[in-house]
Amino acid sequence: MNFFKWIMITAMALMCGINVNAQKPLVLYYSQTSNTKAVAEEIATKLGADIEEIALVTPYDGDYKATIERSKKEREQGITPEIKPLKVDVAKYDVIFLGYPIWYGTYAPPIATLLNKVDLSGKTIVPFCTFGSGGLESSAANLAHAQPKAKILDGYGVRAARMDAMPEEVDQFLKESGFIEGPYVKLPEFSKPHAVNDAEAKIFDAAVGNYPMIKAKAVEVATRSIPYGIEYLYTAVDMLSVSDLRPEKTSFSGITIKIYVTVANGKLPVFTRVVR
Ligand SMILES: Cc1cc2nc3c(=O)[nH]c(=O)nc-3n(C[C@H](O)[C@H](O)[C@H](O)COP(=O)(O)O)c2cc1C
Repeated sequence: MNFFKWIMITAMALMCGINVNAQKPLVLYYSQTSNTKAVAEEIATKLGADIEEIALVTPYDGDYKATIERSKKEREQGITPEIKPLKVDVAKYDVIFLGYPIWYGTYAPPIATLLNKVDLSGKTIVPFCTFGSGGLESSAANLAHAQPKAKILDGYGVRAARMDAMPEEVDQFLKESGFIEGPYVKLPEFSKPHAVNDAEAKIFDAAVGNYPMIKAKAVEVATRSIPYGIEYLYTAVDMLSVSDLRPEKTSFSGITIKIYVTVANGKLPVFTRVVR
């Protein structure tokens, strides 16, 4: 490459906020219904990264019911679906953004197949995921368990119902974690938690009340201001019957969960993720 070309590329990369000294990362993802694909593409575009989709030899049927039936059977049999060989050489990358939908509280089964096949020792993994209610933290913990010699960084997760907020959140996430440069708003710490009052209990119920997979009672809450409103971090007792998730069990879980709720100025409360 001649010097003029190098100057042009470097200048363009700097204008886009890309760190030219860093090696190109890889964005590797599985997505069944394209939510995670959208996040993967957003991250890859912002980073100028290489990107590859994990493909299945026999893809899950697009139909939700059929997918549940097949995946439940596979879980019972202790098998994960076969994936097609990757086109990229994972060994060439130091930093891998690994994306997936959350299934049954953790990364979807094609990722389990990948983790059984590919050695990520010594690599830095940045998990990202999409979900109905949550699963970033539990899936990241499972990643660390499956690949104990990989360095798992804090990741990004977004609800399928909030995909419109994703591009801005990805931008914030990549800047906060130092992958791209540029101004971003550093959010304050949450306040010390206090017992929920009536108004805060109403906000909680408005945010999660209609969501079928959450039956929880708010106990404590911490708050912080965000650029366009207030964020609440509720501690709640999970009243979801274990039988709702695992038909073979009938007891109530009764465990404590964390639920993040945002109230944007002039808007109704929405929950952004559940940490179980
Ligand atoms: C079989 C199956 C299991 C799922 N399990 C969970 C779950 O445990 N928790 C959750 O929050 N969402 C769950 N979901 C919802 C998906 O995570 C969500 O729709 C995701 O955005 C799909 O991503 P995709 O479009 O990239 O495939 C599940 C979806 C399917 C099909």
